[in-house]
Amino acid sequence: MDLTYLGHACFLIKSESGKKIIVDPFIKDNPVAPVKVEEVKVDLIVVTHGHFDHLGDAVELARNNNCPIVAMVELANYCGKQGVKVHGMQVGGSFDFGFAKMKFTLAFHSSSIGSDPIQYMGNPVGVIISMDQLTIYHAGDTGLFGDMELIGRMNSLDVALLPIGDNFTMGPEDALEAAKMLKPKAVIPMHYNTWEIINQDVQQFVRQVELETNITPAVLAPGETYMIPRR
Ligand code: NI
Ligand code: MN
Repeated sequence: MDLTYLGHACFLIKSESGKKIIVDPFIKDNPVAPVKVEEVKVDLIVVTHGHFDHLGDAVELARNNNCPIVAMVELANYCGKQGVKVHGMQVGGSFDFGFAKMKFTLAFHSSSIGSDPIQYMGNPVGVIISMDQLTIYHAGDTGLFGDMELIGRMNSLDVALLPIGDNFTMGPEDALEAAKMLKPKAVIPMHYNTWEIINQDVQQFVRQVELETNITPAVLAPGETYMIPRR
């Protein structure tokens, strides 16, 4: 299984059999996206919350690929009204999609669309994706919370995708603490350097992870792929 970073919080995850899952497909308006929406071929779309930098091009992708959007029920219903396939879930619930299993986790954040009027989309989530006997945790947009320890205890995580941008999510110090609780084999930082307000020195984060944990830090530039080692 491998994982390609498409910038911001967007990842394309590919199974050994070639099935593809995209998480938080923010492409068209993403200043660092290395691909065009039309080029993206996927079997499943996961959206962690309603903010524009996560919902992004999900509806267009669902239409292009005739595949479902997996999201919190309110957000799934919102997308479903636009005529695409959806699959609503809730925090704590899991579902087996055949080639992959998903479980939604807590994320401490908000989830809304627009501003005038603002539309609320239920709770934001993180997601645990299990495929090819490997497990990835995409934290979504979140602050640090103690139940990450529980997520780490109940799941043997191969990779944790953690925001480090600060201001809207955890910053590097809190992400380091999150990694210590989650205990993944590898941590990949995300949600930074898209705009100035979330600029971070990622190499400083890498040094701290190396200094304080046994976790492998893997920094991906947009467009880069990380091959997840088999167990
Ligand atoms: Ni957000
Ligand atoms: Mn965000």
